[in-house]
Amino acid sequence: MKPSPALVSAFASLQSLAAALTIAEINGNKFISPYSGQTVTNVTGLLIAKGPSGVWIRSTTPDNDRATSEAIYVFGSSVGSTVAVGDIISLDGKVSEYRSANTYLYLTEITSPQNVQVLSSGNTVTPLVIGAGDLKPPAVQYTALDGGDIYAVPNGVANISAVNPVLEPTKYGLDFWESLSGELVTIKKPAVTKQPNSYGDTWVVGDWATTGRNAHGGLTMSDKDSNPETIIIGSPLDGTKNPTNSKMGDQLEEITGIVTQTFGFYAVLPLTKVKVTTPASAAVAPSSLKSKGNCKGVTVGSYNVENLAPTSAHMSKVANHVVNYMNSPDLLFIQEVQDNSGPTDGDNVVSANATLAALTAAIKTAGGPAYASVEVAPASPNVDGGQPGGNIRQAYLYRSDLISLYKPNQGTGSDRTTVVPGAKRGDPPYLSFNPGRIEPASPAWQASRKPLAAAWVFKGASKPFYTVNVHFTSKGGGTSLHGDVRPPLNGGVEQRTLQANVTGSFIAGILAADSKAAVIAAGDFNEFEFVKPIKTFKEITKMKDLDVVVKTPLSERYTYAFDMNSQALDHMMVSPSIACNVATKFEHLHLNSWAAYADVVSDHDPSLAQFNLCG
Ligand SMILES: *[C@@H]1O[C@H](CO)[C@@H](O)[C@H](O)[C@H]1NC(C)=O
Ligand SMILES: *[C@@H]1O[C@H](CO)[C@@H](O)[C@H](O)[C@H]1NC(C)=O
Ligand SMILES: *[C@@H]1O[C@H](CO)[C@@H](O)[C@H](O)[C@H]1NC(C)=O
Ligand SMILES: *[C@@H]1O[C@H](CO)[C@@H](O)[C@H](O)[C@H]1NC(C)=O
Repeated sequence: MKPSPALVSAFASLQSLAAALTIAEINGNKFISPYSGQTVTNVTGLLIAKGPSGVWIRSTTPDNDRATSEAIYVFGSSVGSTVAVGDIISLDGKVSEYRSANTYLYLTEITSPQNVQVLSSGNTVTPLVIGAGDLKPPAVQYTALDGGDIYAVPNGVANISAVNPVLEPTKYGLDFWESLSGELVTIKKPAVTKQPNSYGDTWVVGDWATTGRNAHGGLTMSDKDSNPETIIIGSPLDGTKNPTNSKMGDQLEEITGIVTQTFGFYAVLPLTKVKVTTPASAAVAPSSLKSKGNCKGVTVGSYNVENLAPTSAHMSKVANHVVNYMNSPDLLFIQEVQDNSGPTDGDNVVSANATLAALTAAIKTAGGPAYASVEVAPASPNVDGGQPGGNIRQAYLYRSDLISLYKPNQGTGSDRTTVVPGAKRGDPPYLSFNPGRIEPASPAWQASRKPLAAAWVFKGASKPFYTVNVHFTSKGGGTSLHGDVRPPLNGGVEQRTLQANVTGSFIAGILAADSKAAVIAAGDFNEFEFVKPIKTFKEITKMKDLDVVVKTPLSERYTYAFDMNSQALDHMMVSPSIACNVATKFEHLHLNSWAAYADVVSDHDPSLAQFNLCG
């Protein structure tokens, strides 16, 4: 049937309406395009970059709205073959929203490009400069949907893609990067904030205002500030590879690349590989804290030694850290000690006595003292989580010439240690199993490490002191700070809260028996000071985080480098009698967060404290 003239003219005006769409109109001022799923024709833009699977174009008719990106990705492996950077091109295609996992944000793109025409060539391509003018990355919050606290509990209450808020690029980091999606940008004076992963993906900040910058050049998170001003540099567009040996604080050559969304993060894909101009030193000074050899200056360290097995290649490196950087502390809390057969599964091995013997021997070889060790092995294989067959647990190394267990009574994996009041008034409380596990049958420890409690006495001291070595459940199952889910899922947070409650209640029992007792709870809490599990722990115990006690500057409170943040997953918590003692000192040793990828011994940094434990 021949179409009626009215229909033809309606169709033509629809077409010209579509033809009139600018790139800013396609992107819209929200995360999701108002034209998602629709076909668009004659989209015109300057070709600003080419990649292996498509090209990026920038509008030749920009609007004045900071919230609407003027650039867009055109996905199609053949689209780049007939066009060059500097061409102004027009094309038809379909507006699509793409993501490779359902917890990621979407990338707005034009797919199935057709009728690609070159309108002119040789036009100048000028990158936008991040940090200049109104292109300053927000430094504190990610999105309005976090309600001001990215670690609020409950998390996962909203998805950006569902709410699709209007972008506020001067307030929120995700809105800022989204408002530049597809743009060619330059980062001046980039500096590495964390060693890259094995692919060379590198987190950086440029010459713009930052918060939480630590002395080494990383960005440390603090309460309600998780550093949205950092950005990851992904795979170079020309097929070169970023170096994998850069590290926190390295200065890089200026970077120009495309802002996009990849593997769940906003990223800049550089035109070519990043280059280190001025490497930072990774050298860490040995701790200034040294044991006095008496109860007035006891040194206590804590170190998550990352799946340490008897045959681990990093055994001697851990020993080197203990001896030459931690100055062989009198007492050492260690986490992630694997059993005698390491990750071999199905062999029913749970004891770690050979692992601990190998570690104490390696420490001796490195020039350290003869340490004794204690542990409580898991009740049976694979009940405490971690690498299958590895049966990681906490353990203590101690100078048996200076420290001894107070009323020792070795517990088993299923024995529940309790706080027993002293026989008569004034007698200190003791532990029914020493060393012993705290509430090993509690559901809080489902597939997780039970805390290792012990009571000790230092040579010459008038009273025992008490320790709890923790390794709370991990953040596995969480979602990216750049993800769709808001606030991001903080994997395991409810279980850690229960664990904090059970552990805290045990410690509260010691302090109920003796309010002046010296109690040290240390290890890998897998949580930040300002998040619910630790708040719960502090509320129940009235213990204080040593970083708070010694007033470590906020930006220097970190034991771990993860994505954009330097952060403190490891803590030492102390009872009031230790917190108010002038002898108390505390340091983090950034042996791993400063190191290049190949030199990292463990994923955590160790910490070292000094106490008066005379009683
Ligand atoms: C496509 O857009 C260009 C520039 O924006 C314009 O010159 C041209 O007339 C348009 N073509 C059609 C078929 O609408
Ligand atoms: C967010 O999106 C995920 C993945 O699609 C979905 O499972 C979840 O229920 C959503 N959450 C909310 C609060 O809508
Ligand atoms: C570990 O304990 C077992 C059983 O008690 C013992 O036979 C073995 O000698 C110990 N190994 C080491 C290295 O101490
Ligand atoms: C700890 O757990 C107990 C028992 O479930 C509960 O009553 C209490 O409120 C919890 N404490 C905190 C601070 O969450």
